Amino acid sequence: AMRKPMIAGNWKMNGSFELVTELSSAINKVKSAKIDVVVFPPFPLISLLQQQGITVGSQTVSEHNPGAYTGEVDAQLIKQCGAHYTLVGHSERRSIYGESNQRVADKFARAQQVGLIPVLCVGESEQQRVTGQTESVVAAQIDAVIDKLGLAALKDSVIAYEPVWAIGTGKTASPEQAQAVHKFIRDKIAASDSDLAQGLTILYGGSVNEENSEFLFAQPDIDGGLIGGASLKADSFTAICESAK
Ligand code: G3H
Repeated sequence: AMRKPMIAGNWKMNGSFELVTELSSAINKVKSAKIDVVVFPPFPLISLLQQQGITVGSQTVSEHNPGAYTGEVDAQLIKQCGAHYTLVGHSERRSIYGESNQRVADKFARAQQVGLIPVLCVGESEQQRVTGQTESVVAAQIDAVIDKLGLAALKDSVIAYEPVWAIGTGKTASPEQAQAVHKFIRDKIAASDSDLAQGLTILYGGSVNEENSEFLFAQPDIDGGLIGGASLKADSFTAICESAK
């Protein structure tokens, strides 16, 4: 593909100072001009990882400007801590914390306002897939952002397709299943702006490991991965990075 592969590790609510030391030296060894490697640790580890030379992002961001929002973290502060990216709308945020498409679009907007690159996470549940709603669900998740900000906003963003049924379950989408949805996303955007669509990085996430990654990344519209569990193990994560080169 003409796009540079990206491998993103989402640590979720895992990690420690010790893990930063272990993973950062492994990642520094695998880094290369051929791929972008980004780690999304819990907030308190952002600065530390960044100081180790790792490209970092946050796992979510407040949609609000600074103020009385106890427990939330401001986008500008996340940026100041050294982050370049933030996830928005991860399925765990949507399902456990009730984030709607609208709120996710607000977070996307706030991230871009301060110069953080949003990684917009989209994907259908198992129920939605079996009832034939995969494309309409994913389209609505993306349209919420386009409706708020216009299509051009997607230019400085990344999309991560993560079928909910494949997250943390060991049930990876087959390369063909994933490719079909990635192509749907790219075609949908290409219908309005083909250059934007061709330049857009679309990651796959959901039980990616060192066994299946090369087959997923070989698909024409899969530009890399958003890795959960396997991003916590140095050997697995670096093997996944190697498979994207
Ligand atoms: O953000 C990462 C995804 O939720 C995938 O997690 O690789 O543990 O299935 P997983």
